[in-house]
Amino acid sequence: MSKKICMITGANSGIGKAASIQIAARGYHVIMGCRSRARGETALEDVRAKSGSDAVDLLIVDMSLQSSVREAARHIETAYDRLDVLIQNAAVFDITHKQIAFTEEGVETIWATNHLGPVLLTELLLDRLKENSQGRVITIASKGLMAKPFLRVDLEDPEFRQAGFDVTKAYYQSKLAQIMYTYWLAQRLKGTRVTANCIRVPIVAIDTNRYPNMPGFLRSLYLLKTRMGLTPEQMAETYTFLSTSDEVSEVTGCYFDEKNRSVKSRRYTSDPDNIARVMQLTMRFLDI
Ligand SMILES: NC(=O)c1ccc[n+]([C@@H]2O[C@H](COP(=O)([O-])OP(=O)(O)OC[C@H]3O[C@@H](n4cnc5c(N)ncnc54)[C@H](OP(=O)(O)O)[C@@H]3O)[C@@H](O)[C@H]2O)c1
Repeated sequence: MSKKICMITGANSGIGKAASIQIAARGYHVIMGCRSRARGETALEDVRAKSGSDAVDLLIVDMSLQSSVREAARHIETAYDRLDVLIQNAAVFDITHKQIAFTEEGVETIWATNHLGPVLLTELLLDRLKENSQGRVITIASKGLMAKPFLRVDLEDPEFRQAGFDVTKAYYQSKLAQIMYTYWLAQRLKGTRVTANCIRVPIVAIDTNRYPNMPGFLRSLYLLKTRMGLTPEQMAETYTFLSTSDEVSEVTGCYFDEKNRSVKSRRYTSDPDNIARVMQLTMRFLDI
């Protein structure tokens, strides 16, 4: 039997890169989905060296563009004979980003990257995941949502075309939508051998050098937060556990914390009517 294959997006830095190393070291063939060839190639070299595995590939995909996501899915279908794990890790959250931005396909960038791209890629690869004895989809949300108890996905204006743009709201809205997509998917996948779970990521150190335009005071704040948080390697342990452990091979529709415990998400996210509304909205953006 060929090696199990795990595709992870946003794999050139932070938690995604650390998880690529750990999962490759466990004997999985890892496909690192990255938008920048230069950053991807540098990370690929490092992941191969640190995992001691050559079964690590780079796949260029810009998760904000549906055309790029479709091309990546086609590539996976033709170049690989299986897909066992799909980790939707890529996301944008740059708090220096004050102005609304739209992709070249005309969608607000955070909504496009953090929610629509992951949904589209997952949907396009579901049949491939179903072919194995067991497939796993893992999505990523944020513990920071606990500080936003009243936030909802704005069903009328998810792209801030009418309301003033707020990067924090845009980011957390996309993460709420990812949790709801995971529950929706797990429900739809009942009776198949594919599971869908979401990870609640707490504060994890980020590389502030990735944000050269970050003002000094914000940089100091981030450094402080970073000292209090987990390292990407520590957080990646949960990604690795959910991707590879037999303990969770049949667990689906759950929200996991950094200690690999199943925790509750806000009641809003598990309400079937809310989920149906958010998924109807989501599908209006996607031609699937
Ligand atoms: N760090 C935290 O405190 C924290 C807290 C809660 C949740 N999270 C979540 O944890 C996950 C990993 O974050 P991290 O901390 O490891 O941050 P990170 O180092 O900034 O990683 C984000 C990754 O996503 C990639 N990415 C962004 N836009 C993309 C696009 N359009 N197409 C493809 N890749 C794209 C980035 O690539 P580029 O190098 O090209 O930008 C980068 O590799 C994210 O989902 C994040 O929302 C993190």
